[in-house]
Amino acid sequence: MTTPRPAAVVVLAAGEGTRMRSTTPKVLHELAGRSMLGHAITAARSLDPQRVVVVVRHERDRVAAHAVEVDPQVLVADQDEVPGTGRAVQCGLSVLDATAHADLVRDGVPETHSDSVAVEGPLVVLAGDIPLLDGQVLARLLETHVADGNAVTVLTTQVADATGYGRVLRDEDGAVLGVVEHKDADAEQLAITEINSSVYVFDAAVLRRALGRLGQDNAQGEVYLTDVLAIARGDGGSVRALQVDDPMLVEGVNDRSQLAVLRAELNRRLLEEWMLSGVTVVDPATTWVDVDVELEPDVTLLPGTQLHGRTRVASGAVVGPDTTLTDVVVGAHAQVVRSHATGSVVGPGAVVGPFSYLRPGTTLGADGKIGAFVETKNAEIGAHSKVPHLSYVGDATIGEHTNIGAATIFVNYDGVTKHRSTIGSHVRIGSDNALVAPVTIGDGAYTGAGSVIRRDVGAGALGINTAPQRTIDRWVLRRRPGSPSAEAAAAALGIDGDDTDDLSPQARAEIARHQAGSAADHDSSSTTEGH
Ligand code: UD1
Ligand code: CA
Repeated sequence: MTTPRPAAVVVLAAGEGTRMRSTTPKVLHELAGRSMLGHAITAARSLDPQRVVVVVRHERDRVAAHAVEVDPQVLVADQDEVPGTGRAVQCGLSVLDATAHADLVRDGVPETHSDSVAVEGPLVVLAGDIPLLDGQVLARLLETHVADGNAVTVLTTQVADATGYGRVLRDEDGAVLGVVEHKDADAEQLAITEINSSVYVFDAAVLRRALGRLGQDNAQGEVYLTDVLAIARGDGGSVRALQVDDPMLVEGVNDRSQLAVLRAELNRRLLEEWMLSGVTVVDPATTWVDVDVELEPDVTLLPGTQLHGRTRVASGAVVGPDTTLTDVVVGAHAQVVRSHATGSVVGPGAVVGPFSYLRPGTTLGADGKIGAFVETKNAEIGAHSKVPHLSYVGDATIGEHTNIGAATIFVNYDGVTKHRSTIGSHVRIGSDNALVAPVTIGDGAYTGAGSVIRRDVGAGALGINTAPQRTIDRWVLRRRPGSPSAEAAAAALGIDGDDTDDLSPQARAEIARHQAGSAADHDSSSTTEGH
């Protein structure tokens, strides 16, 4: 059967969530890369309702801004100082009614005729703290509600430990009488293991009438939404429950311990789906993937891999071990080993790691390499080009088939402005170069090891600017007499370490001072050169 379209979904997100003990409102805590509120709005939206309204109060601006960021189409309703889920729904419903009214006025219906406009038909209500609730369960609930012609349909489940939940009260025939909150329940009711999930479909008119009659005469002094069930039944409406077998789907989060349990469970389920679709997950217990990650068949995830955001990994690629990728695109048959990357693209067949750090704006071409202890940022590295060891590549464009020698630094910052460097194709940058941006190295150019390249090097040229080397013979013998180095040098030269005949009078005097046991003058012995 096709799922009926609900008039609206009301998402409850006004509560403080004190048991989280957090400055972040409960519904903004995340699992699998999405806030609990984000999960709720996603599930709500999957029903294709005419409206989704999010009820806010605690940290109102933060929660409202987040809701609109997740889904720009949501309506926001403010709950007033009256506490409780019943009041929250009432506030949501008045925004829905006001919006329906405003729509009619906008469509040209005269004010007088639109006075009594109100949302009609099935209205879904769900708490914002049930992160594993999915669209399929909601659809089943809605189908049941409409097929049975119910006034209220509540989603329930059996749990081993019902502490804190509202218990579902039924008569001998199994008909639903109502819900009693944990704090209001007597011993007999506390023994009930069927719990209210805080997910419902109401007939809008029934709900509106019942909400107006709710009191606050209960253990928590709140307006309980759960009281609507008994009222609707008392009015002769049919109140039924849809019980799901899988309690995890409807489990609420009240503290961080429950959040961790559901986070692990959601992750387990996501990995299960990926494995069934052809992804190898070597160690599901240490592998974490966000909901928006996409993996092709024959991807391999090694232990300790975390894939966040909109990361996409193509077929044949191997990621891990111990790798964290956020918003990274990994091409087919690429390898990313023991690395950390954000906002980057790794081309097909390319190799990254171990111990690489790719910051936003890194693009590595096909069959390229970013090797050990290399950091990159805003760097376009062409196909077949390599940055194999110990380098920083920031704000650079590198052509194809180019090699960047070990320990090369792209000097992109002059203390005021960041500058960009452009390196051509088939370039050989020597080891330990400093490429001072802005600088351009032409195609096929070379640079010498240890160069500081401050000026452009044309195509095919050699850029080199190291100072000529000075070698001072027997410096160690003269300036470090008696040291293991001097002894090794003397042995290599086949001379007696004490044979100072060919030394200058100055050096001989120095040696004499040492041999007399006088303390070496550290300042003078630490200068760089003798002569
Ligand atoms: C609620 C139900 C309980 C059910 C349980 C399932 C009521 C009275 N109780 O209890 O039967 O078993 O959920 O998890 O409904 N909220 C508001 N405004 C408020 C209070 C809460 O918007 O004034 C929102 C919260 O932000 C939260 C949701 O409603 O998203 C549930 O609130 P919470 O305080 O967690 O209710 P429970 O005590 O768990
Ligand atoms: Ca709760």
